[in-house]
Amino acid sequence: MPAGSIERPVIALDNVSVLFTKKKLLRPVSVVRAVDGATLHVGRGEVVGLVGESGSGKTTLGRAAIGLQRVTSGKVVFSQGETSTDVESAKGRDWRQLRQHLQIIFQDPFSSMDPNMRVFDVLKIPLQAHGVKGKERIESAVEDVFRRVGLPNDILSSFVFQLSGGQRQRVSIARVLLLNPDFIVADEAVSMLDVSLKGDILKIMRSIADELGVGILFITHEMAVAKVISDRIAVMYLGNLVELGPSEAIASKPLHPYTQALLQASPAIDPSLREVTRSVNVKGEIPHASAYPSGCRFHPRCPFAMPKCSDQVPELREVEDGHYVSCWLY
Ligand SMILES: Nc1ncnc2c1ncn2[C@@H]1O[C@H](COP(=O)(O)OP(=O)(O)OP(=O)(O)O)[C@@H](O)[C@H]1O
Ligand SMILES: [Mg+2]
Repeated sequence: MPAGSIERPVIALDNVSVLFTKKKLLRPVSVVRAVDGATLHVGRGEVVGLVGESGSGKTTLGRAAIGLQRVTSGKVVFSQGETSTDVESAKGRDWRQLRQHLQIIFQDPFSSMDPNMRVFDVLKIPLQAHGVKGKERIESAVEDVFRRVGLPNDILSSFVFQLSGGQRQRVSIARVLLLNPDFIVADEAVSMLDVSLKGDILKIMRSIADELGVGILFITHEMAVAKVISDRIAVMYLGNLVELGPSEAIASKPLHPYTQALLQASPAIDPSLREVTRSVNVKGEIPHASAYPSGCRFHPRCPFAMPKCSDQVPELREVEDGHYVSCWLY
């Protein structure tokens, strides 16, 4: 099987590229390869952590996975039982149904919820849009979901602006769960929360995968967060997946120098779990995705770069069972 693919995925991105063309006076001046030939599958009940620095293409990949971002090439397929749907070509009613199955949670719930709305109304709108009507049916659906995300029913009459940061994020998770999704992209969903709240929300997200069988693509720039929640971790650099494997393997035996640097930069949430990783001095900053280097895109920053790294692109190869890396060191 090609790197990144698994059997029976709920979402399969196959060889997906997303290019943005910048234009000046209608003439294309530069091309941003935000995602460049990525293959990544997520299974039911599986949490895949997608980790990388700012600008590496994580959000673009996540949006492509749920059809919010058109892909330039490649395929995105959603599977439910024996039925597979091409996310790109779904239209009309199919598209609306697909939208319900594929959901996204953002870093800042304020960006997706009107602070001046009451919580009940925030939750009512998506339910009604998907045909769940009547006060009683809505209330009982909300009650179940509130129990799961740890919210008391009495906040239903509160305004969004009255909620704490943690409550707001719980409401945004509840809103998504009410739609019974099969797949959720969580884009930096815990980045703005303090450590203890972070832990709570991660537990909720994990239980959504374990108990409801939802597949989750968990986007974060913090390796420590990815380690806690993910079954597998994918590391992204300038539009490419550079390492992919089971969380334990990535955490205990990171292969790519970039992964090693990310692990080092992200102390464990629980200090007792803090492990000692090889010290990797990565130089400089991530270049812009419109001006990426030849060969291995990481080579100008890599302390172990060899001559061939600057002109030959390393493939994502399986080095150990299910552990893939694209690096000439292996
Ligand atoms: N609509 C767009 N038009 C042009 N360029 C874009 C667009 N969206 C993203 N980009 C560019 O694509 C690259 C990847 O962006 P993306 O937001 O996916 O990265 P990210 O890994 O999510 O970063 P962050 O951690 O900051 O959220 C960046 O260089 C960004 O500037
Ligand atoms: Mg992003």
